[in-house]
Amino acid sequence: MFLAQRRLCSLGSRTEFLKTIYSSKLLGFSTSAKMSLKFINAKRIEGLDRNVWIEFTKLAADPSVVNLGQGLPDISPPSYVKEELSKVALINSLNQYTRGFVIITIPFYDCYEPMVRMAGATPVFIPLRSKPVDGKKWSSSDWTLDPQELESKFNSKTKAIILNTPHNPIGKVYTKEELQVIADLCIKYDTLCISDEVYEWLVYTGNKHLKIATFPGMWERTVTIGSAGKTFSVTGWKLGWTIGPNHLIKHLQTVQQNTVYTCATPLQEALAQALWIDIKRMDDPECYFNSLPKELEVKRDRMVRLLESVGLKPIVPDGGYFIIADVSLLDADLSDMKNDEPYDYKFVKWMTKNKKLSAIPVSAFCNSESKPQFEKFVRFCFIKKDSTLDAAEEIIKAWSKPKS
Ligand SMILES: Cc1ncc(COP(=O)(O)O)c(C=O)c1O
Repeated sequence: MFLAQRRLCSLGSRTEFLKTIYSSKLLGFSTSAKMSLKFINAKRIEGLDRNVWIEFTKLAADPSVVNLGQGLPDISPPSYVKEELSKVALINSLNQYTRGFVIITIPFYDCYEPMVRMAGATPVFIPLRSKPVDGKKWSSSDWTLDPQELESKFNSKTKAIILNTPHNPIGKVYTKEELQVIADLCIKYDTLCISDEVYEWLVYTGNKHLKIATFPGMWERTVTIGSAGKTFSVTGWKLGWTIGPNHLIKHLQTVQQNTVYTCATPLQEALAQALWIDIKRMDDPECYFNSLPKELEVKRDRMVRLLESVGLKPIVPDGGYFIIADVSLLDADLSDMKNDEPYDYKFVKWMTKNKKLSAIPVSAFCNSESKPQFEKFVRFCFIKKDSTLDAAEEIIKAWSKPKS
């Protein structure tokens, strides 16, 4: 297992390995992929000139806004994680460079497309689609990939598929059968699998997180990605790890060495200690891997009830800490908003300004062709203190009241 500084790829890596893309998106390298340096002018790379996080995080920074936007917990991280950090800070040697070869780089959800383009590769996309769900709750498991459509995206140039389970933003947890379809295609087309499993512990009742690397024939072609931020609610640490066979990990080490060099030693040591504490008590309900999903499931159900109470039909996530809903039924006068943006961008800007509640527009997670499919959806983050959710509830309930 190797620890990694995050976002490294977004710095513009130049190795074959990092020519990858995201979740249910496949990639085939064009001949120009060999000349990635010609994309060094960032202005030419789609997705780099605008960024949803810069735009919406700034709006949500207003202290009067209840922030259910960016995926950051406002609950406290476990005390032993913070204690481990304070302990290691007192050890002189752990305040210096860490060893360069425990460290790797990873790809990153909505950043994947610009990252792939920076690497000079061509992303190929396949959408998750939902079957009709009249009369019952809409679940993230209703969203599936069509196996034939998926296979049609593979060809001899396909280098990698990036899988994300549990999925951000839909909350889908891929089943054994679904993962087997992906594994079979990876083997048939001799393709790598980059498996982004940063929400691996955040899986709710009735669901099980499975690692595609454990499927027959997949270990040697899979890199599995984990996150300290998501595992221990310390997103500010920007530390994570990848697990994979040496012939793949060694390329990540080279990239890491030639870009950020190392990650922060005290954070790395504290994370290792915290993981050790919880790995030793995996069957204990107190283990954070068990207690956090329990705590979050209550918050998820609360958000579902709240959104339903104002007439929305949220997609109930089986994993992760986001919930998405079509908000076009909510009363919002967007006539003053600039017209050159998708509905969800306008809606969230309007909501943040007028209702003091922030969220993230889901079309930010889409390529240009699939934006219309999702532009009525917004994403709410529910890893929040009860008091934050109380404030959000007050806003949403007051909004839905008929005007007197
Ligand atoms: C699917 C997915 N992958 C990776 C990341 C990055 O995780 P970290 O902040 O730990 O680098 C995120 C963060 O939101 C994510 O949602």
